Order: sequence, then C-alpha cells, then structure tokens
Amino acid sequence: MTTKLGRKNCDNPAVLAWVEEMAHLCKPDQVFWCDGSQQEYDQLCEQLVDAGTFKRLNPEKRPNSYLAWSDPSDVARVEDRTFICSKNRDDAGPTNNWRDPVEMKETLRGLFAGCMRGRTMYVIPFSMGPIGSPISHIGVELSDSPYVAVNMRIMTRMGSAVWTALGDKTNFVPCIHSVGAPLAPGQKDVSWPCNKENKYIVHFPEERSIWSFGSGYGGNALLGKKCFALRIASCMARDEGWLAEHMLIVGVESPAGDKSYVAAAFPSACGKTNFAMLIPPTEFRRWKITTIGDDIAWLKPGADGRLYAINPESGYFGVAPGTSEKSNPNALKCAERNTIFTNCALTDDGDVWWEGLTDEPPAKLTDWTGKEWTPGCGRPAAHANARFTAPMQNNPVLDPAVDDPNGVPITAIVFGGRRATTMPLVFQAFNWIHGVYVGATMGSEMTAAAAGTLGQVRRDPFAMLPFCGYNMGDYFKHWLRMRKHIKRPPKIFHVNWFRKDENGKFLWPGFGDNMRVLKWIIDRCAGRVYAEETPLGWMPSADDIEIHGVEKFDCNQLEKALAIDVAGWKREALLQDELFISLHDDLPKELLFQRELLIARL
Ligand code: GTP
Ligand code: SPV
Ligand code: MN
Repeated sequence: MTTKLGRKNCDNPAVLAWVEEMAHLCKPDQVFWCDGSQQEYDQLCEQLVDAGTFKRLNPEKRPNSYLAWSDPSDVARVEDRTFICSKNRDDAGPTNNWRDPVEMKETLRGLFAGCMRGRTMYVIPFSMGPIGSPISHIGVELSDSPYVAVNMRIMTRMGSAVWTALGDKTNFVPCIHSVGAPLAPGQKDVSWPCNKENKYIVHFPEERSIWSFGSGYGGNALLGKKCFALRIASCMARDEGWLAEHMLIVGVESPAGDKSYVAAAFPSACGKTNFAMLIPPTEFRRWKITTIGDDIAWLKPGADGRLYAINPESGYFGVAPGTSEKSNPNALKCAERNTIFTNCALTDDGDVWWEGLTDEPPAKLTDWTGKEWTPGCGRPAAHANARFTAPMQNNPVLDPAVDDPNGVPITAIVFGGRRATTMPLVFQAFNWIHGVYVGATMGSEMTAAAAGTLGQVRRDPFAMLPFCGYNMGDYFKHWLRMRKHIKRPPKIFHVNWFRKDENGKFLWPGFGDNMRVLKWIIDRCAGRVYAEETPLGWMPSADDIEIHGVEKFDCNQLEKALAIDVAGWKREALLQDELFISLHDDLPKELLFQRELLIARL
C-alpha cells in the first residue's frame, strides 16, 4: 500500500484515476504531490544532497546552487531509443523510430511493473507556457526522480496553480517517467540511478501521452521539453493549425524604439542560447536585445494575421562548455545563482568550471566523473554536454513580454546550421514556399563528439529531425499550408556563423557580432535596405553589413563569408536528394519544384 503525501488542490477525477493506476503499476513506496513552492524545492534539494546526487556549491560563489554528476552512461538524449508509436507506421515516417503502439504498451507495462519499488513517485503538474494562456498546454509528469522534480520547477511553470487552471478538464498530457532502478528492501541507492540496459523514450501521438524509462538526463527525463513541447506538441499543432518548433525567440529594439521579434531554428548546440541573449557590440549599443526563449517556440496565427509566439518553457537548460564572459556573459549571469549544474567540473573552493569558461584552467579540479583533474591530464574536466538549469528570472535581458499570454508577433524566421563551407553568412528567401524549402533542406555538420565523421553534413530539416512527432513529409505540408492562415507572414532567412577559410578558421566573428547580421534582417523586414537578387535568395552586398569595429576583420573576409560557391551549391542540391528520396512518398511537390528552380538559377 502506498502512502500519499501532500495531495493538495487536485481533485481532477481523471488525474486522480491515472495517478492511482500508475502507482498501482509502478509500486512506489510513496506518492508525493508537488506544490511547486520554494520550501518544497529547498527540501527536495536538501534530500538530493543527503542522497549524494547533489553537491551544494559554495553559497558565496553560487548561492542556492547545486552540482550533479550523472552516471557516465547517461549523459545525453538517446535518439536511437526514442520512439513514435502512431497506429500507422507511415504517420511516424521514415525519419522516426516507429513501433506498434499496442506492442510497445505491453513492453512498457512490463518494464514499469514494480519499477518504482523503494522510491517515491512525484506528481509534477506543469504548464507549458504562461498559466492560463490560450497558447499554453498542461502536462502532469509522474517521476521517481527528485532531480527531475526540481529541474521541472525551473524549466516549467510547475505547482498547484496548474490544478486550478486545469479544473476538471481531461486534456492534460500524461507523462510517466522512471529511472528504471527499483530498490530491494534495504538496498543502498546510487547517486545517479538509471537503467544501463534498457532505455525507452516513447511517444503515443494519438493518445498524446509519453512514457520514458531508464534515463534521468535532460530531454530524456524532463518530459515537458522535447517529448511534450516538441514531439507531442508538433502533432497537436498539425491538428490544430499552429507550429511547435525548435526555435529561440529574441526581441530586437532599434535605436528609434521599434520593437521586433525574431524566431530562429538552429540544431542542438549550434548557438540558440547565444543568439537569444546576445550582447550587441559597442557600435550597436543603442540596440536592445531581449530574450523570450532559447530552445522552443510555439507559434499561432493571431487575429491580426500575424504569427504570435510563446516560449513554453520558463528556464534554460543550456550547454555549459564554451559559455564564457566573452561568448555569452548573459548566460553566465543566468547561472550565477538558483541554478542546477549537471556534469560540470568542481573547483577546490566549491564552484563549477567547464572547458572555455576561462582561458586558463584552474590548477586542480574534480572532473565530472569524480576523479582528480589537472590541466595536462588529457581528459576534459566537464562533459561536452554538461548543462546548467537556470530560471529565466535570472536573465538580465529577459523580455518584459515573456509572460504575455498572447505571445509576441514574429517579424522574421531564421534558419541556420553549422556549415564550414557552401552556406553564406546570410540570405533571405524569396517567399514563404521558398522559405519552407530552405528550412526543409537545412543541414549541419556533425561535431566530432557526435559522430567522428567530422565535417559530414547531416540533414536536419527545421532543426526538427530528432523532435518531429510525425511524418516529416506531412510536417513540410503543414508548414506550406500554414501560409493560408497567416495573412502577414514573417520573412524567412538563412544564416551561417560557422563558415571557415582555407586554414580552417571561422570567417565570421560570431557571438555578439551576429547583431550586425540581425540588423540587416530587421532592416529587410522593414523594407529599409536594398538587397541583391541571387540564385539563393536576396542577399546583402559587403557594404550592407556594418563591420566597423570588428577586430582583425576586413571587407575581404566578409566577402568570403557572403560568397556564393556555385560548384559547392550544385553539390549541395545533389546532397539534398538523399533526404528527398527517403521522404519521397510524402514529399510535397512544391519542394521538388523549388529544388528545380534553384538548380536552374545556379
Ligand atoms: P541546445 O540547447 O542543444 O538546443 O543548443 P543551442 O543551440 O542552444 O546551443 P548553444 O547556444 O549552447 O551553442 C553551443 C555552441 O555553439 C558553443 O560551442 C558555442 O561556442 C557555439 N556558438 C554559439 N554561437 C556561436 C557563434 O556565433 N559563432 C561560433 N563560431 N560559435 C558559436
Ligand atoms: C537539445 O539537445 O536540443 C537540447 C538538450 O536542448 S535536451 O533537452 O537534453 O534535449
Ligand atoms: Mn534544443
């Protein structure tokens, strides 16, 4: 018999019945209903410290902050263990792992039976988006990980207010999560329980439910994020006429006081967090940049014919390595306090460190695996996918409209990836259909950490390859169809901060200097600047991008960054075929025509 703790405020019959059913299946020792209060958060953190999962960081250096080290086998999303279980295989499409929903449910019921023995099941009510916004949606996560509960409190609007907003409605997304490591009576727990043999990240799009087993890390376990806000939400969006995207949302205020919002889709670890909170260079100090979101955007057509966006999250789960006073000072401010660090290194004085944080590494550290570390030892001190979980309230450039239930109007949509060659610094699509083609054919180089095949381009349409909950071809059709519902559509652009010269050096300074390209984008949307028609789209000439003040940079380099390599583009068009062939049966003809037009223009 399970003990029930703190069930306050929830008397939704559907929730109560489902929690009862899941507790019966998973057999936790206790069921704990989270209220989302600060007191509860502090208590859970204390408990995580006692269990050895958290180390409390030096309160003088990082107030109210903790460091967790995961099991070395549980450090990132597991794409090959991620499943879309629609009734028909075609509805998942060739880019997703599909399993029959009935068979998968049976497998999962087997795995979840008794999986929470010796643990507590936390009931975590959360809203993706401001509570009560017409764009928001509610989820309830049941998890046997207190680490998940405290992270969810930062990443989502979590707590009792959600029950009030839900009332007795049944349209919440049930999300069940277990680390998959039951404890026998008297068995001592480990600091990062997970299941090394079995991991399943499973989505049932028709039922709109999520089952996750075996991992406690990031997108595998914080089910509001990729599982709900992208995979399940992309299906809801298709059915209801909106868009759920892997996009940051950034506010841009010109010196004249005009405010615009830009949404940008870059693949994982390609600079969304940086772009969402960039600090303009001195020459642009009268421009104001503010953050709505750094990872996910939900976009809906508004009554005035424009596209409105919210950030469904309320915190940042940001990549730590590479984040520094130079690359992203605002992200560092976000993680100054009230932050959970995962897989960073620990300093002697109880603070965190990661590669790139300082030019000079500390003389001695404890690395993310708990081993002693010195600068020459040949191992990284932090894991490459080490992250910080920081509340958005810490962001010094948080946009005032971040809680606006109506969202913010989007002026421009930007696509981009990590491309050493071919892709110029920036171009503007001719129109919506062309823009959809540009998004659909996006690619990014696999990083050394990811694949070992350095430089190979992986097609990552709309940066959604791992996150689209249905058939990618249908997703393209949905994007094309959306044009009819948006009378004043955003202009669409493509950027590449990562083009390199013959010596392998980045051509473009990047980071804060991306403001210079952002200004051109804003000016184009306002019709303030002339552009050249090229085979790729509308492009600035070198004179149109303000480079005054960029260190060790000249017009010649900018011209290289903007150059159209015709031979490279012909190869690019051929490479795009790989994706198009795999999607052949469901590919909208419009995109094939766009490809023909591009080849003709080249
Ligand atoms: P997810 O959270 O995984 O979705 O990733 P993200 O897109 O938010 O990635 P993030 O902003 O954390 O970028 C991580 C990497 O991109 C770091 O290695 C940064 O140094 C690098 N980066 C970001 N912006 C730039 C840029 O303008 N130029 C260059 N060269 N690198 C950049
Ligand atoms: C990503 O991989 O795009 C992330 C990190 O944002 S995770 O939430 O773990 O998916
Ligand atoms: Mn992401």
